[in-house]
Amino acid sequence: MDGTSRILIALVAFLLIAIQDGSGRLLDDSCGITSPNPVTPKIDGGKDTDIFSNPWMVRVMENCKVICGGSLITSRFVLTAGHCVSTSHMQVRLGEFDIKFPPKERAFTLDVDKKIIHRKFSLDSHDIGLLRLNQTVMFSDYMRPICVLINERIGPYSIFNVTGWGANSRGETPATLQIATLSQMDRYKCIRKFKLEDTMDWICAGSETSDACEGDSGGPLSALRMYQGRRRFFQFGVISKGLRSCNGLGFYANVAYFGNWIADVIQNF
Ligand SMILES: *[C@@H]1O[C@H](CO)[C@@H](O)[C@H](O)[C@H]1NC(C)=O
Ligand SMILES: *[C@@H]1O[C@H](CO)[C@@H](O)[C@H](O)[C@H]1NC(C)=O
Repeated sequence: MDGTSRILIALVAFLLIAIQDGSGRLLDDSCGITSPNPVTPKIDGGKDTDIFSNPWMVRVMENCKVICGGSLITSRFVLTAGHCVSTSHMQVRLGEFDIKFPPKERAFTLDVDKKIIHRKFSLDSHDIGLLRLNQTVMFSDYMRPICVLINERIGPYSIFNVTGWGANSRGETPATLQIATLSQMDRYKCIRKFKLEDTMDWICAGSETSDACEGDSGGPLSALRMYQGRRRFFQFGVISKGLRSCNGLGFYANVAYFGNWIADVIQNF
C-alpha cells in the first residue's frame, strides 16, 4: 500500500467517524407516528383530539390519584415534570382517551418501579423526571412513544401542540383528551412573569387567545416535523408551569437541552 492510499483510508475513516459523531438519533425508531382516525371525523370545531392522535399521552398517578400528565418515550420509560415525581407509590395509566369510558381493551395501569429526577431540579429549573414502568409495553395504534431527538436539533421552534385532560378556563374537567396550539414566546416574558433565570433548560410558550389553558403538568409540548422523509411528532417541552391559570403564558422544560440526560438515564436503568 503506498502512502497516498494510506492517507486516503485514514481520511475516509476520519470522515465516517466525524459524520457519526455529529449525527443525531431518535431515542426510539418507531416513535411519533399516528394512525388515521377510524371514526367519523368530528363535526364541530371543538378541541377534542382524535382517538389515535396522541398515543404517547399518559396519566401519572400517585396513590391511585391522577396528579400529572406524561409521555411515553420508549417501551419502558415515561417523561414527566420533576415536580410530578413523588416518593409515594406511583403508577402510569396508558392508552387512555375518554376517561369517563375507558376502553378496557386499550387502557391499563402499570406500576412505576424506578423514579429519576434531575439532580439540579428545583420548582423553576430543571423540572424534568423519568419514570420506569414495571414492564415494557407493546406498541399499537393507541400506544406508541413520541420522538425525542438525541444530539440533534430540529427547528425552528415556533408553534406547538399541548395536550392534557386538565381543567379548562371554566373549571370543567373534560373527559376526552384536549389539544391546544401554542406559540413560542419571547423569553423575557417568562423571565418577568415567573422570575426565572435566563438559562437554556426551559422554553417559554403561550397563546394570544385565552382559551389555550389545557394541559396537566408533565405533559408534552409537541410538534409535527419531517424527519428522514417521514412525518413524526417530536416532543419539545414538558409542561412545567403556567397553563392552568389560563393566562396564556407558561414555561416548559426544554427537551432538546436534556437529550443527553434522558439518553444516559435510560441507558443506565
Ligand atoms: C406491573 O404493574 C401492574 C399494576 O400493578 C400489574 O398488574 C402487573 O402485573 C405488573 N407487572 C409486573 C411484571 O410485575
Ligand atoms: C398538532 O396536532 C395535529 C394533529 O393532532 C397536527 O395536524 C398539527 O400539525 C400539530 N401542530 C403542530 C404545530 O405540529
